[in-house]
Amino acid sequence: MIRLEHITKTFQTKETNLHAVNDVSLTIEKGDIYGIIGFSGAGKSTLVRCINLLEVPGKGQVLIGGTNLLELTEEQLRKERQKIGMIFQHFNLLSQRSVLDNVTFPLEIIGKKKSEARGKARELLKLVGLEEKENAYPAQLSGGQKQRVAIARALATDPDILLCDEATSALDPMTTATILSLLKEINEKLGLTIVIITHQMEVVKQICHKVAIMEAGKVVEEGSVPTVFSNPKSEVAKNLLLTEGGQK
Ligand SMILES: Nc1ncnc2c1ncn2[C@@H]1O[C@H](COP(=O)(O)OP(=O)(O)OP(=O)(O)O)[C@@H](O)[C@H]1O
Ligand SMILES: [Mg+2]
Repeated sequence: MIRLEHITKTFQTKETNLHAVNDVSLTIEKGDIYGIIGFSGAGKSTLVRCINLLEVPGKGQVLIGGTNLLELTEEQLRKERQKIGMIFQHFNLLSQRSVLDNVTFPLEIIGKKKSEARGKARELLKLVGLEEKENAYPAQLSGGQKQRVAIARALATDPDILLCDEATSALDPMTTATILSLLKEINEKLGLTIVIITHQMEVVKQICHKVAIMEAGKVVEEGSVPTVFSNPKSEVAKNLLLTEGGQK
């Protein structure tokens, strides 16, 4: 489903060139819940932003279902991006729009009829358990509810892939658990491939099938969650396990 080949992303700063992602290759299978974990600054967000080309890698290839995103025209890329949803730590909802209108937003952008967009949005709000809140505004919602709206919005264009960048980091442990079980349900019901970026070990433990561990722009360890957790090889994996949550 997702193949990253030798991805390198370098940021030019005044003093030096910073290799935020340094020669990373990864394969993520269809239907996987794949965790990418590492301490702050390891390059996780930069790597995940390379998957939908929010960040264009300086080197390497991004293949989604066999399509090389770097070879597409702008129009083709826009189409491919509809297949990739994304959610964030701070939800990024539109505060002037109601819950329903936040979810219809991506459908309006691709020119769907209003009635059709609303029908789809209501279906998704039901899936995330927020059908009662369609007329509320983001400011009237709790953090967990906001993230549910963001998930519904990310699913509006029927993506094959959902990218989650620290989607539960702003939530308390109970709410985190409910959002994670919602993601698991979506993975099972819709067959969605989910990529989860986190610094929280318990997130990986709770729902990921596979995990890659990043340090200083590189993937230092990768494998099934039980294997990596029972027998961590890299120092950083051992440290992440020790600190349980990655707070250094
Ligand atoms: N636009 C940018 N310009 C310059 N440097 C950047 C830029 N974006 C990221 N970086 C640098 O790249 C490195 C990796 O950043 P990234 O955000 O990918 O880390 P991360 O693993 O997601 O960290 P966190 O857990 O804190 O979110 C960091 O050193 C960061 O300062
Ligand atoms: Mg990040």
